[in-house]
Amino acid sequence: MNSKEKKSDAKKIRQEVEKAYAGAVSQQIRNCCVNSEKLCCPTKAKVIGYGDDELGNLPADSTITTFGCGNPLAFSEVREGETVLDLGSGTGLDLLIAARKVGSSGLVIGVDMTEEMIAKAKENIRAAGLKNVEVRKGLIEDLPVESSSVDWVISNCVINLSPEKEKVFSEIARVLKPGGRMIVSDIVAENIPEWMRENKNLYSACISGVISEKEYLSGLRKAGLEKVKVCERLVYQLAELESIIKSSDGLFLFPASENEKELEANEATRRIARELDGKIASVKISACKPAP
Ligand SMILES: C[S@@+](CC[C@H](N)C(=O)[O-])C[C@H]1O[C@@H](n2cnc3c(N)ncnc32)[C@H](O)[C@@H]1O
Repeated sequence: MNSKEKKSDAKKIRQEVEKAYAGAVSQQIRNCCVNSEKLCCPTKAKVIGYGDDELGNLPADSTITTFGCGNPLAFSEVREGETVLDLGSGTGLDLLIAARKVGSSGLVIGVDMTEEMIAKAKENIRAAGLKNVEVRKGLIEDLPVESSSVDWVISNCVINLSPEKEKVFSEIARVLKPGGRMIVSDIVAENIPEWMRENKNLYSACISGVISEKEYLSGLRKAGLEKVKVCERLVYQLAELESIIKSSDGLFLFPASENEKELEANEATRRIARELDGKIASVKISACKPAP
C-alpha cells in the first residue's frame, strides 16, 4: 500500500469507528435503563477498576456510559494545579475524575472525534458543575493541543482504535511538557486470528486494531518517551470474554436484538471468546517525556 492509500484507509477506519461510537453512546444509555443483567450501569465502572469514592456524586450518565477498559487515574500522582489531557475522552468519566484531582487551579482537556460523545461529555461536565474542563473536537493522531503544554496524558481504551498508532505516540511526546507523564489503559493482544483482523465490525470493538504489548512499548520508546512500563495486566479468560462481548450488546458485532438473530449472536460470541481466550489483555502503561 502506498502512502496515499494508507492515508485513505486510515480515514475510512476512523469513519467506521466514529459511526460505531456515535450509535453506541445512545444505545448504552437505553440498555442500561432497561436491562439490569447487562454489565453496564455503575457495575461496569466498578468492574473495570473505579472505586466508590471516585464514582460518588458524579452525574449518573457519566458512569453508565463509560467505554473504558481500566481506570488510568487510579493511584496516579496527578496533583492540584496540573494540566491533564485525555485522548478519546468519550462521555467524560475520566475528565470528571481528573478535574477533581487538579482542582480549580488546574485544567483538564478532552479530545474526541465523535460529536455525540463530545455532546454527552459536555452535558456531564455541566451537570457536575465543573469549570476546569474543556472538550475539543479532534483526532488523537493530530492533537489540537499546543506542544509541551500538558503535565499528564491519559487515555482509556482508545489508542488501540487508531489506524495510525505511531502518529499518536509521537503526538503524546509532542504535547507533554519535559518531565510530563503518560498513563493509559488499553487493550493489547498476541496472535489475533487473521479473520478477526479483517472484520471491520471487530475493529470498533477494540479487537481488530490491537497491537501486542511489545509493539506498544517499543512504539512509545521510538517516539522519544522513557521509563516505559506496564503497571498492570489483566489477561482475559473465556468467561470474562463472553461477558464482555455480551455486555457490549452486540453494539458493534450484531444488529440489535431481533429474536431470530439471538442464536446467531450467541454462537458468534462464543466463537470469538474461544478464539481470543488468553490472547487479549487490558493493560495499564506508563511513560514519561525526558526532563531537560
Ligand atoms: C472505547 S471509547 C472510550 C471512551 C472513553 N475513554 C471511556 O473510557 O469511556 C473510544 C473513544 O475514542 C474516540 N476515538 C476513537 N478513535 C479516535 C481518534 N482517532 N481520534 C479521536 N477520538 C477517537 C471515540 O470517539 C470514542 O469516544
